Amino acid sequence: MWSISGLAILLPGTCAFNTEICLTAACSRWTQIDLYLCRLGNAIKMIEIRSIQNEIEFNDMLYQRWLVLRAPLGMPRGTEKDKYEDNAFHAIALWDRQIVGSARLRPLSEDLGSIAYVAILPEFQNQGIGTQLVQKLIAIAAEQNLKTLRVMARTNVMNFYNRLGFIAEGEPFDYLDLSHIFLYYKLPAALQLVTD
Ligand SMILES: CC(C)(COP(=O)(O)OP(=O)(O)OC[C@H]1O[C@@H](n2cnc3c(N)ncnc32)[C@H](O)[C@@H]1OP(=O)(O)O)[C@@H](O)C(=O)NCCC(=O)NCCS
Repeated sequence: MWSISGLAILLPGTCAFNTEICLTAACSRWTQIDLYLCRLGNAIKMIEIRSIQNEIEFNDMLYQRWLVLRAPLGMPRGTEKDKYEDNAFHAIALWDRQIVGSARLRPLSEDLGSIAYVAILPEFQNQGIGTQLVQKLIAIAAEQNLKTLRVMARTNVMNFYNRLGFIAEGEPFDYLDLSHIFLYYKLPAALQLVTD
């Protein structure tokens, strides 16, 4: 697995399907694209990590989210979204113009943000893409001066969040017939200072 740190392409222009309420729009007029190399089988693939840029991508992202998080539970299309989508920042991972991963950040209060719907297509899992997406959301949260992030995670993937610095709090509970738990991430003071 390889990561190209510090390599980014900056593009001018609109940065999200809904510029009025998108966190990206609030923080910058630039859309940053991070490029990430990962190995899939014998091939090395270039993965693009960035925010969604239009409504078509938003709908494609919902479909990809449904494929990973709801279809395996036998749940119909539409169950993959909630009323908070417009008030959120959506990060996607693209390979060959296909959305292979996605994750969402939204503010719960001035200090607290929520990460949700972290979803990587099965054939792209365990290649570091989920890590890249969550790190992207952490960077956006720092730009928004959020102090803490919360995720409601399936307990079977708690390790994934632990490795990123999230710490479980409270007891597991059932949601969609799956065991879940809340985990919290304290944004390092240094990360917050960089954006001041
Ligand atoms: C969980 C998920 C988001 C992780 O993304 P990813 O790109 O596969 O993970 P990364 O390659 O960045 O990180 C790998 C680490 O994540 C964890 N992980 C990844 N997939 C996992 C799985 N299916 N079960 C348990 N842990 C898993 C492991 O700790 C792994 O570390 P290891 O190499 O020491 O075993 C992704 O596998 C996924 O979408 N899974 C299905 C949907 C899901 O459960 N989403 C989370 C909802 S809370």
